[in-house]
Amino acid sequence: MLDQIALRAELADHYDLSPSTDIAKANADIYARMDRVVTPPDWAVYAPYVAAINKLKKERNAVILAHNYMTPEIYHGIADVVGDSLQLAIEATKVEADVIVQCGVHFMAETSKILNPSKTVLIPDMDAGCSLAESITPAGIAEMRAKYPGAPVVTYVNTTAEVKAASDICCTSSNAVQIVRGLDADTVIMTPDKYLAQNIAQQVPEKRIVWWDGSCIVHEQYTARDLKDFREWNPGTRIIAHPECPPDVVAEADFSGSTSGIIDYVTRERPEKAMLVTECSMASNISDALPDVDFVGPCNMCPYMKKITLEKVLWSLHTMQGAVEVDPAVADRARIAVQRMIDLSAKLAG
Ligand code: 13P
Ligand code: SF4
Repeated sequence: MLDQIALRAELADHYDLSPSTDIAKANADIYARMDRVVTPPDWAVYAPYVAAINKLKKERNAVILAHNYMTPEIYHGIADVVGDSLQLAIEATKVEADVIVQCGVHFMAETSKILNPSKTVLIPDMDAGCSLAESITPAGIAEMRAKYPGAPVVTYVNTTAEVKAASDICCTSSNAVQIVRGLDADTVIMTPDKYLAQNIAQQVPEKRIVWWDGSCIVHEQYTARDLKDFREWNPGTRIIAHPECPPDVVAEADFSGSTSGIIDYVTRERPEKAMLVTECSMASNISDALPDVDFVGPCNMCPYMKKITLEKVLWSLHTMQGAVEVDPAVADRARIAVQRMIDLSAKLAG
């Protein structure tokens, strides 16, 4: 993969991408969704890319599925669908266009390919990984099965296709409680996120939950002490944590949920001050829609999610490089685990 500077130079041979106040003005409706967090000079830089991507997207018959952690210029500028992992997986099943560009991390692109295999699924940077996905292999699943014979394996979607294929059912942070509760088993193996598993164990005390020793490098950085101190310095702040945080951090929070669960909570509750204990782009992406909420506090950046940039999205659509492939036999088995999750969460929700 070319670096950002080299990419810009290559792209400039095909598109007029110099900063432009004219293109910025022509796309003022898009800018209005992020003008609290993106400065006008930055928009003049982004707008030519946004315009070029939106045009090329039509020519290639492509849709862009973007995770809630994408930067505002991607989230508001070029995405057709935004959401958490579960929503993006469900949306992937419905795509009729020829091409899906996954603005997120590699496991999300793999999930789209597994669920809609006839489509070309592009990831703008193949190195957009995930510490959780890297923490376990199918051998790890086999090890857990040997240790806890007969216990079903619930695997977080933040895993490779091979690991999903070795599992019984998948889950995301938005449906893990229902999935675990809904299983007809006293002991449940959860992989690979130990903190998600520990947080679920507290909500499903009737089952014995055992876990793999994986964690998210973004959420594990938060400590309960930080949150306590923050609350003391900023009385009245509503603290909202992602369940990939350690349990003592989640215990300090007023609410815990998936990335879309967090957005829904803040949108519904409209606290005066909110601290989102998760990735930095979350607050940026909802700032314009919620001008009455003051987003305060530190955030942590996901280095993998941040590998996805406008330059790389344009490059992937231009070259059609970066197609994600999953061995069909692996995909068939992984699809069973992902589809079981989608079906069970739909059944339990309805
Ligand atoms: P969500 O399913 O909550 O969007 O989480 C995905 C993720 O990678 C969070 O770190
Ligand atoms: Fe993976 Fe954590 Fe980044 Fe989410 S935030 S993609 S779990 S490393």
